[in-house]
Amino acid sequence: MAPTQNGRGPAGDSEAAGPDDERALILLGGGGLARELIGYAMGSLAVEDGLSDARPFRIVGALDDGMDQGADVEGVPILGKMSDAGRVAADKPDARFVLAISAPHTYKHRPDIIRRAGLDRDRYATYLMPGAHVAASARIGRGGVLFPGVVIGTNAVVEDHVQLWPNVVVSHDCRVREYATIASAAALNGVVDVGSGAYVGSGALVREKLSIGENALVGMGAVVLRDVPAGHVVVGNPAKYLRDV
Ligand SMILES: CC(C)(COP(=O)(O)OP(=O)(O)OC[C@H]1O[C@@H](n2cnc3c(N)ncnc32)[C@H](O)[C@@H]1OP(=O)(O)O)[C@@H](O)C(=O)NCCC(=O)NCCS
Repeated sequence: MAPTQNGRGPAGDSEAAGPDDERALILLGGGGLARELIGYAMGSLAVEDGLSDARPFRIVGALDDGMDQGADVEGVPILGKMSDAGRVAADKPDARFVLAISAPHTYKHRPDIIRRAGLDRDRYATYLMPGAHVAASARIGRGGVLFPGVVIGTNAVVEDHVQLWPNVVVSHDCRVREYATIASAAALNGVVDVGSGAYVGSGALVREKLSIGENALVGMGAVVLRDVPAGHVVVGNPAKYLRDV
């Protein structure tokens, strides 16, 4: 896989990209994160089977259970509810989807949203913003979001539907499992394993070779020095158990 600089694929790809190569993108969610994604669309790329196929895109719609069809979010039309994903996917066979929901109070719903959307894996693309750097040997899945300043190190694996917010560092040999969110400026030192659906809060630091369990939540600013069991909320320096999720 080719490395990126400033969120662009290899020069040959971006030079060849024109309107015909543009990918239509639909957001699953129309809330705060969707508004950010719409704001950052300029210069961002859609990635499907690795960075070498990264291409420009247009956001053509969003699906949201709390908004009416015909409304809009930042000028992007609401095309229906989440349960309309199959209809929208059939109407727009070339469009790709991105999961655009993730906050400390909503992150647990992410797997369920994807399950209910019922779309094949190849209908998802990862939203790669300018200034995200991915090592040549790293792997990134589909349906994720990589904000500016993200650094993904050598041999790291970022699975499907993962959110990496601004300035997140995923160091060498880390694995970030599906549906996980790593909030702004958090750093995973080498060989950290972040479980499926886990949430690592802003500015948290995770010592090398540790595991963050499935659906666990690491509070903002925590310094994690021990494995975090599945379903635990931990806070502080050193991070300690606060409650169950
Ligand atoms: C960990 C977290 C989920 C706890 O939320 P909560 O369950 O509502 O907890 P409360 O605010 O009721 O606080 C409970 C206790 O934990 C402490 N606490 C909460 N968050 C803390 C944190 N990040 N670090 C240290 N202590 C924390 C509070 O001071 C309080 O302590 P006290 O009982 O001695 O007064 C939340 O504070 C947090 O860090 N969320 C992540 C935010 C984030 O990164 N957002 C990204 C952008 S959306």
